[in-house]
Amino acid sequence: MLRFLTAGESHGPALTVVVDGLPAGVPVSGEAIDADLRRRQGGYGRGGRMQIETDSAEITGGVRHGLTLGSPVSLLVRNRDHENWRDVMSPEPQPAAARERRRLRYPRPGHADLAGALKYGTDDLRNVLERASARETTARVAAGALARSLLRETGTEIRSHVLRIGAVALPDAVSTAWDELARVETSAVRCLDPATADAMMAEIDRAKRDGDSVGGIVEVVARGVPPGLGSFAQWDRRLDGRIAQALMSIHAVKAVALGAGFVGGETRGSAFHDEILWSAGAGLERPTNRAGGLEGGVSNGQEIRAAAVVKPIPTLLMALRSVDLATKQPQPASVERSDTCVVPAAGVVVEAMLALVLADALLEKTGGDSLAEVVAHLEATLAAQRALAGPPDQR
Ligand SMILES: Cc1cc2nc3c(=O)[nH]c(=O)nc-3n(C[C@H](O)[C@H](O)[C@H](O)COP(=O)(O)O)c2cc1C
Repeated sequence: MLRFLTAGESHGPALTVVVDGLPAGVPVSGEAIDADLRRRQGGYGRGGRMQIETDSAEITGGVRHGLTLGSPVSLLVRNRDHENWRDVMSPEPQPAAARERRRLRYPRPGHADLAGALKYGTDDLRNVLERASARETTARVAAGALARSLLRETGTEIRSHVLRIGAVALPDAVSTAWDELARVETSAVRCLDPATADAMMAEIDRAKRDGDSVGGIVEVVARGVPPGLGSFAQWDRRLDGRIAQALMSIHAVKAVALGAGFVGGETRGSAFHDEILWSAGAGLERPTNRAGGLEGGVSNGQEIRAAAVVKPIPTLLMALRSVDLATKQPQPASVERSDTCVVPAAGVVVEAMLALVLADALLEKTGGDSLAEVVAHLEATLAAQRALAGPPDQR
C-alpha cells in the first residue's frame, strides 16, 4: 500500500525519495522531517562528513499547504559535500583525471566494494561505494518522517534507544519503559542511563584511538499499534517477517530480534510466553510482553519491540588486509573519511524503517484515500475489538 524508492549517490548532487500511497490530508512539516534528519546526523562517534552536511529536505511534490494530496510525495536532500566532488561525481563525461583522482582500487572488507565490483563488472570501486554508502539512509529517514506523521494521527508513536556499544551494555535493572525512552534525545549515545552512556563514549574513544570501529545494539519500540496488523494467512503478509526484513536491510545491521528474541532459545515455554488475563476493569491484559507485540505475524496490541545488532563499521584507519584489484598484490584496504561508531544514528534509521512498515500495514488494514477515511475505518475496527475483548462498560 505504501511504497518508497530512493535514489542518489553519497557524493552526488542530492538524494531523492518518492513515497507513494500516503492518503490525502496527512500533515507534513518540513521542520519535522529536518528534525529527524538532524537526529540521524548526530550521535557520539560520527566523523567529518556529518560536520559538512546540514541535511534539510525540500518537498518537491505531493504536498499542498502542509497536507498530503494523495499523490506521490517527493523529497530532495542536497549533498553539500557535492561541491567538493563536482567533477568526480559529474553525470556528464569528464577528463580521465576526474575519474582517477578518487578512484578506489583496494576493496574494504565488510563493505560492498568487492561484491559490488564483481556484480557490476567495474574496477573502480567508487562506482559501487557511492550508492552502497549509508548516506542513503538519509532518504529513508525523510520517508520515515512522512510515515510517522500518518501513524501519529492514528495514535502510534515510535522511539528507540541504545542497549549496547561494544563491551558496554545497559544494565538489566534500568527501566526501558515507554515513558523513560524520551530521555535519550538528550544523550550523545541515545542511552537511558548516564553512567552507562559515559562508559559507552569511553568505549568509542578507545576504538577511535586504535584506528578501529565499534558496533552495538539498538532497541526500537512502537506504542499504540492497533491489534490486527499483518496476517498469518501467507508468509509474506506476516508483520514479524516484514519488520525483520526492513530492519535487516539497513546498512551494518546483522541481526534482528523481536521481543525477547534470542532469549527464546534458552528458556522454557512456561517462562517465555505472555499469559492472557481478563478483568472487568481492564478487559484482556498481558502481564508480560516477551513476544514484542507480535503473535502469529499479527500485532496483538502490545508495544512492538525489536532489537537490531549493528556491526562495527568497516572503514578502518587501521586498514585490514586487502588486494589491489589491478595488480593482485597485497594492499591495505582503502581508507575513506569515516565514522567510528554509528549505533546511535542507526537507531534513528531503525525508527524510520519500522514507521514505514507499520504505516504500510495500517493502510492495508484500513484502506482509505484520505486520512479521514483511514481514521473512520480504524475507529470502527477498534470498537469491534473492544466489543470482543474489552471491559463490559466499553462494549
Ligand atoms: C547511519 C549509518 C552510517 C554509517 N556510516 C559508515 C561510515 O562512516 N563508514 C563505514 O565504513 N560504514 C558506515 N556504515 C556502515 C556501512 O554502510 C555498511 O557496513 C556497508 O555499506 C556494508 O553493508 P552491510 O554492513 O549491511 O553488509 C554506516 C551505517 C549506518 C547505518
